[in-house]
Amino acid sequence: MQNKIAQLLYKTKGYISGQQLSEELGVSRQAVNKAVKSLRDKGFEIDSMTNKGYMLVNTPSVLCVEAIKCYLNTNLIGNKIKVLDTVGSTNDYLKKLGTKGAEAGTVILAREQTSGKGRLGRTWQSKKDNGIAMSILLRPEKAPAEISSITPLTGLAVCRAINDFCRLDSQIKWPNDIIVGSKKLVGILTEMQAEFDRVDFTVTGIGINVQNTVFPDDIAHKATSILLETGRHINQNKLVACMLKYLERELVNNHYTLSGTSVTDYQKLCATIGRSVTFNRGRRRISGMAIGINNSGELEVMLSNGTIATVNSGEVTVQGIY
Ligand code: BTN
Repeated sequence: MQNKIAQLLYKTKGYISGQQLSEELGVSRQAVNKAVKSLRDKGFEIDSMTNKGYMLVNTPSVLCVEAIKCYLNTNLIGNKIKVLDTVGSTNDYLKKLGTKGAEAGTVILAREQTSGKGRLGRTWQSKKDNGIAMSILLRPEKAPAEISSITPLTGLAVCRAINDFCRLDSQIKWPNDIIVGSKKLVGILTEMQAEFDRVDFTVTGIGINVQNTVFPDDIAHKATSILLETGRHINQNKLVACMLKYLERELVNNHYTLSGTSVTDYQKLCATIGRSVTFNRGRRRISGMAIGINNSGELEVMLSNGTIATVNSGEVTVQGIY
């Protein structure tokens, strides 16, 4: 109900009467008044005028389902969205929903995470309203070995959404950090529940530094935020809707596979390619030049003896980037 009123107000240029809102939604005038009050409590600025009705002046600046839904234009991702005030980790929360049968495309966001998780057992800091902590549940009908493209496709989608929406020149640090210059702006963590030959669901968590101006000492030299890079306070709800659109296009519409075009697009945006990299193979530390990714999303590295090694996980150190 609040969703529908917010969307009608958003679509209407100017005022819409309480009578018209109640007729279009098939609810009482009292119910309309109540919903408008709840939207105002959530940060919607709604002007009301006798004989004219209501007019939307502004949507909330903090994460809010009704605001995201105003801007959303997807078929699957975001059909169910929930914003939590605080949670341990949106990935953990959504994995629990996944085991209880949550539908593909469910999105969980949190204004704050108290135990946000990063890759390789690290932590991810998400202070209240400083950034976007979001997880998306998908149910690709594939075997676990066939979904390695989810990681690069997510990186590609998020990088493009940020560049379009924030007018930034962010790049991908393989496999899927998003960086500006040599500093990290976004971290992505994909987890999966699967049987031997069938994926039950994947949960992809995306953490974006939006409003941060200071970072903990240990990451201060290698982290940045949208505010620090652009000097602007962006509309977080619009950015979420834009990202969900790009994610649907790259992941769902491409059936979770890296096409030739997406490999080319990824490589154009990938800061790792063309740089010297070092990685672990068994107990050996190997160096080479990153030259591309293959259609499984693995990094191809040219070694000094002219052979090409493929790297598919773990930590790669890239010269010139953290
Ligand atoms: C990394 O760079 O190591 C990945 C960071 C992923 C952080 C996001 S924030 C939303 C989701 N919930 C989590 O606990 N982690 C991911």
